[in-house]
Amino acid sequence: MRRFSRITGTGSYLPPRRLSNADLAAELATKGVETSDDWIVERTGIRARHFAAPDVCASDLGFEAAKAALQAAGRAPQDIDLIIVATSTPDMVFPSTACILQHKLAQLNDAAKGIAGCPAFDVQAVCSGFVYALTVADAMIQTGAANRALVIGSEVFSRILDFTDRTTCVLFGDGAGAVVLEASDTPGILASDLHADGKHVGILCVPGNVSGGRVIGSPLLTMDGQAVFKLAVGVLEDAARATLAKAGLKDTDIDWLIPHQANIRIMQSTAKKLKVPLEKLIVTVDQHGNTSAASIPLALDVSVKSGKIKPGDTLMLEGVGGGFTWGAVLLKL
Ligand code: ACO
Repeated sequence: MRRFSRITGTGSYLPPRRLSNADLAAELATKGVETSDDWIVERTGIRARHFAAPDVCASDLGFEAAKAALQAAGRAPQDIDLIIVATSTPDMVFPSTACILQHKLAQLNDAAKGIAGCPAFDVQAVCSGFVYALTVADAMIQTGAANRALVIGSEVFSRILDFTDRTTCVLFGDGAGAVVLEASDTPGILASDLHADGKHVGILCVPGNVSGGRVIGSPLLTMDGQAVFKLAVGVLEDAARATLAKAGLKDTDIDWLIPHQANIRIMQSTAKKLKVPLEKLIVTVDQHGNTSAASIPLALDVSVKSGKIKPGDTLMLEGVGGGFTWGAVLLKL
């Protein structure tokens, strides 16, 4: 019998420090950087974001989201046999944030020590990271390499923002989302479609690297916003259509569209192209900003917990980000 994978629990976590656009504008004004709530809302749909405290890392946010997902799935850490963390803001150059997070889960209690030993690794596909990670976990479950995975998106983008660049620093936030993905006789994940095109490396990147004990080049995010906008709108439609075709479904079968939460204008334009009514578009970018790899699982969890998304619903998850990377996962909850 064919093996499938199915999401059995979702969780998320936002660091407590919330900044409205007005709060951020006031902070930026002290650096001589001018912005306004009106500009940010009109161009992006963002109204607020959360920033982690300086000593809080991606593994800390991911740990909280993972605990919540485990609880929702009725599972304990020792039930997990695969951990994948999607992040572009890891705790360290190495080891992976997934290994650090595994150890935090193992320390919860005596039984939880059983999570030690399972494979744990990070996926780096920037804002497409979660759809990449979910696709890899699904493939490993389908082949029998894993039975019960924790798939986490966790980011502290505030660490790589240039707070003197108003074109980028108003867009991003910190947070984490997680799912438990389990082997199942019925799908679950129906189809996925992943892509990358490295010729666009320069339009969205953190170009610095570590060499000889020093950071060489800028360790802060740079972006050509208009180039990103144009690319994102085109590829999101293509990935969604390819995924629907693989699953033998139509755009009218989508109950909820959960795109990467980057910018309300990109999200609405994608929904229109897919003929998905705006009432079926999940929007959390207004409250979270762009949390990169965390944005899709965060939006999913918020919508599950609020009762908007229900078991049995058909969801289209879509990521797009630096690389350039993009992709979609179609699933039945
Ligand atoms: N506050 C006030 N004014 C600003 C700000 C700001 N925060 N940022 C830029 N401006 C000004 C500019 O200086 C410019 O002024 P000028 O006309 O006097 O020169 C004016 O606003 C217009 O700037 P543009 O860059 O042309 O603004 P645009 O309409 O392109 O919007 C934005 C910029 C929001 C970044 C848009 O290009 C966009 O959404 N791009 C998509 C990028 C994105 O979402 N990236 C997220 C990461 S990638 C991902 O997740 C897929």
